[in-house]
Amino acid sequence: TGMSIIAIVVAYLLGSISFSYCITRLTKGYDIRERGSGNAGSTNMLRVVGKGPAILVFILDVSKGMVAVGIAYWLGTGSTIMMVCGLAAIFGHNWPIFHGFRGGKGIATTIGVTALLTFTATLISGVIGIIAVILTRYVSLGSLIFAASLPVMIAVLDYPTSYIYLSLLITVMAFVRHWTNIQRLAKGTESKVSSSKPQN
Ligand code: G3P
Repeated sequence: TGMSIIAIVVAYLLGSISFSYCITRLTKGYDIRERGSGNAGSTNMLRVVGKGPAILVFILDVSKGMVAVGIAYWLGTGSTIMMVCGLAAIFGHNWPIFHGFRGGKGIATTIGVTALLTFTATLISGVIGIIAVILTRYVSLGSLIFAASLPVMIAVLDYPTSYIYLSLLITVMAFVRHWTNIQRLAKGTESKVSSSKPQN
């Protein structure tokens, strides 16, 4: 229906607002995508700018996913379209129309979307991902494990069948966007999270 299309387009546009780009551009003057890993996300904010800005960007990117789903709910679309809107927001975050289609990797926005629609699956996958980060100090590995675990948990727990397939697309997007991280992990050259302060 028309409402569904409007909700999906709005979700994509909302997802396309890159908070990491906007905040660093406004407060530091540079393009976050030209520093560190080159990613427009909270992990690279932590690496390049610092803890406070990283937490802020994480919260805003999570909220973006939640608001996209919330708007779909408010417009009265069904549960499947709500998840499609979540996907559109993640897609927008990864390939933003406002920033030359060069965005982030979609993990925070995914957390926002799936926390609302598949809370228990998100919680379990999130805990597994966080444990992986703590044990290995690779945020990217934790992100990949989180993304791979999501559809499995959604399938195991009692969610609508459409959510299984749509969450598989979330996993595919996460793996596509983490491709260079996967190559670095395989070579042993991926950067680890450290407690030292960034120099910028
Ligand atoms: O969610 C992004 C994270 O998994 C990796 O970020 O900057 O290390 O490529 P980055």
